[in-house]
Amino acid sequence: MSVNTLATQRVGEKIWTIIVAAGSGARFGSPKQFEMINERRVVDWAVETARVASDGVIVVLPQAQAQREGGVVGGATRSASVRSGLAAVPTDATIICVHDAARPFASEFLFHEVVDAVCNGADGAVPGLPVVDTIKFISIENIVISTPDRSRLVAVQTPQAFRAKILRAAHASNPESTDDSSLVEAQGGRIVVVNGDPLNRKLTTPEDMNWARAVTRGEV
Ligand code: CTP
Ligand code: MG
Repeated sequence: MSVNTLATQRVGEKIWTIIVAAGSGARFGSPKQFEMINERRVVDWAVETARVASDGVIVVLPQAQAQREGGVVGGATRSASVRSGLAAVPTDATIICVHDAARPFASEFLFHEVVDAVCNGADGAVPGLPVVDTIKFISIENIVISTPDRSRLVAVQTPQAFRAKILRAAHASNPESTDDSSLVEAQGGRIVVVNGDPLNRKLTTPEDMNWARAVTRGEV
């Protein structure tokens, strides 16, 4: 019954995913998206799941890799890379997901959760996890300005799903941000938070890569 409802909701939707994999991995020490986890590159883990969950996938890569394996050439920042991907998404796409190549363990279920929220009327949807630390908002001089109520904070992940025309409009003036939902928010868009997944950790440092390899060995 619920499967039918899901299928009905998606009638007429064309779902495309942009995988951003054009970063330089400064904090890791090299482009981490091309490291191997169990015979497969980090980026390929993300692409494989996105292909199952979407009608089409655009992979945004550094120039050398894009030339070698096909794909779109990225930009100097994450937002610029998303825009390179957006330019390659067919105009008949109705929902666009943006996903970090650096999150190899995003599940198909998580893609479905964010897409369903958009099918149900949200402008965008993001996975969010409760924050365990107390978070301080500080000045550039490291002086605490305020302490937001932790129970109202979430740490957000990708994949993030959007109504296609709303995401395109949010990027129209070439803005910069660390994620796409904040650009849609800035335009007054309504973003829904779905349950994030601790396994969908972003690989930022060598320690994160050790964790990911341990996961695949069943050690975590
Ligand atoms: N990304 C991208 N183009 C950029 C910068 C980032 O496609 N110019 C991608 C990364 O490849 C990654 C995702 O955006 O999949 C999230 O970025 P992040 O984890 O910050 O990766 P890097 O920017 O590569 O790492 P760092 O910030 O440490 O340099
Ligand atoms: Mg970065």
